[in-house]
Amino acid sequence: MTEQTTLIRQSAATAADNQRKVFIKTYGCQMNVYDSERMGEALAADGYQPTDNVEDADLILLNTCHIREKAAEKVYSALGRYRDLKAARAAEGRETLIGVAGCVAQAEGEEILRRSPAVDVVIGPQTYHRLPQALVKAKAGERVVDTEYAVEDKFDYLPKKERGARPKNVSAFLTVQEGCDKFCTFCVVPYTRGAEISRSLKQILDEARRLAENGVREITLLGQNVNAWHGESEDGAEWGLGDLLFELASIEGIARLRYTTSHPRDMDDRLMQAHRELGKLMPYLHLPVQAGSDRILKAMNRKHTAEEYLALIERIREARPDIAMSGDFIVGFPGETEEDFQATLALVERVRYAQAFSFKYSPRPGTPGAELTDQVPEDEKAGRLQRLQALLTRHQLEFAQSRIGMEMDILLEKPGRNEGQMIGRSPWLQSVVVAADESEIGQMVRVKITEASANSLAATRIG
Ligand code: SAH
Ligand code: SF4
Ligand code: F3S
Repeated sequence: MTEQTTLIRQSAATAADNQRKVFIKTYGCQMNVYDSERMGEALAADGYQPTDNVEDADLILLNTCHIREKAAEKVYSALGRYRDLKAARAAEGRETLIGVAGCVAQAEGEEILRRSPAVDVVIGPQTYHRLPQALVKAKAGERVVDTEYAVEDKFDYLPKKERGARPKNVSAFLTVQEGCDKFCTFCVVPYTRGAEISRSLKQILDEARRLAENGVREITLLGQNVNAWHGESEDGAEWGLGDLLFELASIEGIARLRYTTSHPRDMDDRLMQAHRELGKLMPYLHLPVQAGSDRILKAMNRKHTAEEYLALIERIREARPDIAMSGDFIVGFPGETEEDFQATLALVERVRYAQAFSFKYSPRPGTPGAELTDQVPEDEKAGRLQRLQALLTRHQLEFAQSRIGMEMDILLEKPGRNEGQMIGRSPWLQSVVVAADESEIGQMVRVKITEASANSLAATRIG
């Protein structure tokens, strides 16, 4: 190595050392994925570069989930590991800040500081635009908890220009609605995310246009109850999610629209019409039902019966015959008998979900369900979960196999495992492996499906 290159390398290393780095770990739902991206952007504007290597990080930020006990406990075990890492770095004279964001932060606040002495900042899902200020205080040695619901709107304070700026970001999330007023008796979301609020039409359209300008082709609208979104149009009309989808479909460059998660009680006629008429709205709908027994649905405060849910799906399928259904299930809610559970299996048989997520009921502090006395024993829950998952997996595989021989457009998203292979998405959210060049990422290509497993498809190019 010549003296000159050594010098250049040294100065590059010094510049890199001065650059603060943040490692963000995300738990939980897509909303947290979106929030992590936004926190990353806010931190980038504050001089933090992202890193995938936690040992390099000057700031470790955990964006956490409180939905089930296991999810919350994962955070504490991670914090144990990061405490040791922080100590090891301190021994080398390097400072590390640890922040806890998201739903555990909101639910447990101060308690996190007590349980985990290495944590410097606890910040809630509605206040993370104040993260840079919290870090300034933390650097000065203060331990900060900021989980008040902010009076200002975080979206007005988050940086705007970076959205979607990552190269080749083909598909992006866009939060349109947050919080929940439904109070299902098992669920912490109304407590961790607060009351149901909708972002304004203008904010959403601005963000969607920025995404499109940055090369995004597919937008997934997010909300804990996304189909409860409502807003005011430019001429003062009251709009719902259906209207919003029609408006977004007119943005140039946006080829595909999706939305998640919806509640059965908020599927209105205009949204049905969007499914019927909007080619850009993908034929895939995540519509959780949780259980098939009316008695349990009532105890869960879902406010609909199994028959009402099935009738709704019939109407959706009438509007969009090729729609694939996805769902969430909880087994072992307090008081659930074998007969109740059989009703869940029967409902699953009738719907035949293309995709589903199922969980053992986890009693959450502060929710009405946790107070009920007739909790189902753990091994009973485990047995039911296994039986339900066997059925769901069979349907998922059958759905995947029904695609074999089908021709479809897929949106190319990223390189596959092997040279010359790219991975795209089917309209039904399946990963499709196909021969393609990296330069084609972001394009829609026509393929014919040749093979199918439960989680991915293989295809050949046509046309
Ligand atoms: N807003 C969405 C769900 C959010 S939580 C809806 O209304 O459907 C995602 C899923 O986690 C839920 O659909 C439910 O199946 C599961 N879940 C929520 N609380 C749970 C608990 N206490 N125990 C087990 N699963 C739970
Ligand atoms: Fe939780 Fe029910 Fe609200 Fe969904 S609708 S977030 S399950 S309370
Ligand atoms: Fe978890 Fe909060 Fe999402 S509890 S599922 S991260 S809204």
